[in-house]
Amino acid sequence: PSETGRILSIQSHTVQGYVGNKSAVFPLQLLGYDVDPINSVQFSNHTGYPTFKGQVLNGQQLWELIEGLEANNLLYYTHLLTGYIGSVSFLNTVLEVVKKLRSVNPKLTYVCDPVMGDEGKLYVPQELVSVYREKVVPVASMLTPNQFEAEQLTCFRIGSERDGREACNIIHAVGPSKVVITSINIEGNLLLIGSHQKAKDQSAEQFKIVFPKIPAYFTGTGDLTTALLLGWSNKFPDNLDKAAELAVSSVQALLQRTVNDYRSAGHDPQSSSLEIRLIQSQDDIRNPEVKFKAEKY
Ligand code: ATP
Ligand code: PLP
Ligand code: MG
Ligand code: NA
Ligand code: MG
Repeated sequence: PSETGRILSIQSHTVQGYVGNKSAVFPLQLLGYDVDPINSVQFSNHTGYPTFKGQVLNGQQLWELIEGLEANNLLYYTHLLTGYIGSVSFLNTVLEVVKKLRSVNPKLTYVCDPVMGDEGKLYVPQELVSVYREKVVPVASMLTPNQFEAEQLTCFRIGSERDGREACNIIHAVGPSKVVITSINIEGNLLLIGSHQKAKDQSAEQFKIVFPKIPAYFTGTGDLTTALLLGWSNKFPDNLDKAAELAVSSVQALLQRTVNDYRSAGHDPQSSSLEIRLIQSQDDIRNPEVKFKAEKY
């Protein structure tokens, strides 16, 4: 194993554009990690376009890949990262993968982005919600829901910062010691809330990072954010606030570049979903200038 870590990343692949593994693998490699991607789907492009074509991996096929690795003693990982998962059977197989990887490395960190929906709308089958809530959250080490997903998992409505912090506490009680609600919209302002429960009998250390809402719609940013949170929080295991400052600062620099590039090419950034300028932002990923500071509660 490398000194930084070896990550198994189970996420979507798109031929064109950056979501899922396409937006997670390159940044983690830039931060020095060995990343082994399993593509849960291979689509021509992300699902926000008028149409898409491609293939979906099922739970049995995922398990075959794990068996192949196991047969060659290649199942040692420091981290498992999962994002969008489209079916209950695939999610149940992911749970088997967690068990298997922990039988090889009991210290495996499982970073779970419980992708289910956004802005009040679910975009996975309803049955997934209870599987995440009852089976996946309890085995996750770090969870990165957005506001809507945190509400689904806690059955608790988040209408304020205080509610966001309370939702993190509810999630800690179920398992994950690190929780980052990657975006909460409070009266038009966007903020991230981070929460680290350093010991089971302690109250969590919590912070927020405020950032302005850019008037455009991006895809792949949630997947990028979770990847960077994994990358930096592994380097600074006791400073989730610092890890989140670095992650948010990289993402905001990339989004600014994306909007600027669309504008200079004569496009209106508000007119459609924007493909992020990931490769062009590699310096902002490797070496972010921290412009967004965490405020401790
Ligand atoms: P998930 O992918 O798990 O559903 P999410 O809904 O938080 O998470 P995004 O909405 O893509 O994912 O946000 C991820 C991060 O990207 C946020 O923390 C924020 O830093 C940034 N971001 C995304 N869209 C914008 C925007 N329009 N303006 C400013 N920041 C944004
Ligand atoms: N995976 C696939 C296949 C998608 O089509 C999309 C968005 O359209 C995503 C993931 C979502 O990415 P994010 O939540 O990071 O914007
Ligand atoms: Mg969102
Ligand atoms: Na998220
Ligand atoms: Mg997402």
